[in-house]
Amino acid sequence: MLTQEQNERLTRVGPGTPMGELMRRYWHPISASADLSEETPTKEVRLLGEDLVLFRNTSGKVGLIEPSCAHRKANLSYGIPEPNGIRCAYHGWLYDETGQCIEQPSEPEGSRFKEKVKLKAYPVQELGGLVFAYMGPEPIPLLPRWDALVWENVTRSITSVQLPCNWLQCQENSLDPVHFQWLHHYYGPYTMSRKKGKDEGNAFDRSTVNRGRAHVKVGFDMTSYGIIKRRLLEGETEEDEWWRIGHPIIFPYTLRVGWGSTHSFQFRVPIDDTHTMHLLYQAVVPEPGETAPHQDVVPHEERPLYDENGRLNDTIIPAQDELAWVIQGPLMDRTTERLGVTDQGLIMYRRLLEEQMQVVADGGDPLNTHRDPAQNQCIVLPQEYSRYPEEYGGEKGPFQSERPHEPDVVGVLV
Ligand code: FES
Ligand SMILES: [Fe+2]
Repeated sequence: MLTQEQNERLTRVGPGTPMGELMRRYWHPISASADLSEETPTKEVRLLGEDLVLFRNTSGKVGLIEPSCAHRKANLSYGIPEPNGIRCAYHGWLYDETGQCIEQPSEPEGSRFKEKVKLKAYPVQELGGLVFAYMGPEPIPLLPRWDALVWENVTRSITSVQLPCNWLQCQENSLDPVHFQWLHHYYGPYTMSRKKGKDEGNAFDRSTVNRGRAHVKVGFDMTSYGIIKRRLLEGETEEDEWWRIGHPIIFPYTLRVGWGSTHSFQFRVPIDDTHTMHLLYQAVVPEPGETAPHQDVVPHEERPLYDENGRLNDTIIPAQDELAWVIQGPLMDRTTERLGVTDQGLIMYRRLLEEQMQVVADGGDPLNTHRDPAQNQCIVLPQEYSRYPEEYGGEKGPFQSERPHEPDVVGVLV
């Protein structure tokens, strides 16, 4: 259980809050690049409690600025893209991607008024089909070049879902390996058998209890960029990759997960205190010796949260996770929760968040800040039972030398 004050410190992300200040030290994926096209050159976005307008000028450059024109406050998502900025729909003032007003067409010839007009703007960068924004102080850290964002020979796709709940509910799920056994192997078949019928391999029978195998223990290791999560299931040994290699939780809110040829990220982007964008990014490695087809743009699909009956979608695994987060309410009350042995990872993660908020308050760089370009060419991440591109280890990947060991935090469950 947390105090009300602790719960607020960990969840509130608006400007000036301790968590908001920590979050502002990271690059956030706020949109798919595909969303900013010739047909849709502007987009209203909200990030860390701030409303903003994202735009692509006709030269291809992306900008992120405050939404209202400085003149008479017209919303710039209705602006017209130009080669060097966005022109307000109302009286034609033109702003570049730094927010500087560079034209005021109806002001007197030679007027220097525009030099004094500047909108708030944040730096953006595109990588792997995503637009990332940085809202923190200078010096601006490097945008981390995670492997699946930069690998060349892969097929990528992006899916996003808007969730009416706080980001921490989403992220704590990744420190909670045991939910897999219940949410995905018991509730999942239960709901699938009701919605899709028992004939499609979705049979649910309470008497056979087709839940997943029990977790014997769960383990969590600190790394330079976050936490590695490990699980040991009944019937497995510590040589199994679920335990020996595991997969990462990238600080502060990204899960790396996948299997076989699929490498994916799940970004839980805090929109504000009660809304999160769940952005699922997938890169699929082709069969050995094959080349992935060329992609001009990485496709983006927005997945609806609710079904035709107004109930939460729950027939695929990520939607079951989203259901579990949303049904905790918009902002979960952690002052009355009751944590068990299975929740060791979650407790570790909350301590880490507290510690990193303090690092920022003391003027330091928090965990997973990148400043060395030589170390940021391609950051390859562990993912159990996965095939990597051939230049990164191929069929079994580059992490096979990992040996079983006692993690930093262990929960022994059986
Ligand atoms: S309101 Fe934007 S130019 Fe007048
Ligand atoms: Fe899950």
